[in-house]
Amino acid sequence: MLETDQIHHLDCVSGMAQLEAQSVDLVFADPPFNIGYQYDVYKDKLGRKKYLDWCRQWIAGVHRALKPTGTFWLAIGDEYAAELKLLSQEIGFFPRSWVIWYYTFGVNCKAKFTRSHAHLFYFTKDDDEFCFNSETIRVPSARQLVYGDTRANPVGRLPDDTWILRPQDLPGGFAADEDTWYFPRVAGTFKERAGFHGCQMPEQLLGRIIKACSNPGELVLDPFSGSASTLVVAKKLDRRYLAFDISEDYITRGRERLAATQVGAPLTGAPEPTVSAPATGKGRKLELDENGQKKTRRKIYVKRADQKTLPME
Ligand SMILES: C[S@@+](CC[C@H](N)C(=O)[O-])C[C@H]1O[C@@H](n2cnc3c(N)ncnc32)[C@H](O)[C@@H]1O
Repeated sequence: MLETDQIHHLDCVSGMAQLEAQSVDLVFADPPFNIGYQYDVYKDKLGRKKYLDWCRQWIAGVHRALKPTGTFWLAIGDEYAAELKLLSQEIGFFPRSWVIWYYTFGVNCKAKFTRSHAHLFYFTKDDDEFCFNSETIRVPSARQLVYGDTRANPVGRLPDDTWILRPQDLPGGFAADEDTWYFPRVAGTFKERAGFHGCQMPEQLLGRIIKACSNPGELVLDPFSGSASTLVVAKKLDRRYLAFDISEDYITRGRERLAATQVGAPLTGAPEPTVSAPATGKGRKLELDENGQKKTRRKIYVKRADQKTLPME
């Protein structure tokens, strides 16, 4: 049996075959997209059939490893999104959300539109029984923040399936010149960047997935560890973790990153959504009390048909 809380130097298909069946709670997989990306060991340009046959193998391995109530998240690019969604369903997964992750610092393209998104498929092994901790990932609603509406649900709302960290989610509001409104890709200049892997996923994005789809103490598996970001976030959130990679170098550096990570440490990157008061259309901030409610009720005036302007209650 493979040790948990570890990155194993194994091909993920053979690694997952060594795991006890139905032992994992959550899998997050960000495989090579088969687009010719430069990894140190892996050659990211297989023939189409060969790539899809391999994906069928490892996705079947994920299905076998997951508990009956387990969850599978798959990150993939446009080139194979449709194929891998259908393939995962054929293998037995139920699709729950098709999330678009819209990131800044997109990949510059010469003869088509600049790429600024990836697909995140959220599947469960069972259609009815699965973990979804909605209370851990709620964000403030526009009704709460922008309009200061007392009818707003004080615990906020669930995020949309297009993952953008919106202006009203930023503490202290939104400044038009900021380029960190969205979960940005972990670009080369970012403090968060571990510096040895070009595909590093942002911690905030992984945090949302791990918090919603697993509980503390449960086992999170990443078949394609890369920079070990999934494991770093799982450790911070007090989950058990396990990953594979075929690159010795990525594993060594990933282990170093993990060793420097403390359970309970805050996630790096744009802060988690908190209650904030963004500027209104006239550039003014709503004054909120300690419960996030508007302090004084301003009168809103309406014009009647007889042209008399009356305060609206
Ligand atoms: C897209 S990257 C993962 C990036 C990762 N999500 C992160 O945040 O850094 C894909 C990784 O899969 C690894 N890989 C490729 N083929 C593999 C295989 N058969 N088994 C395990 N890992 C593999 C590559 O070495 C690469 O590090």
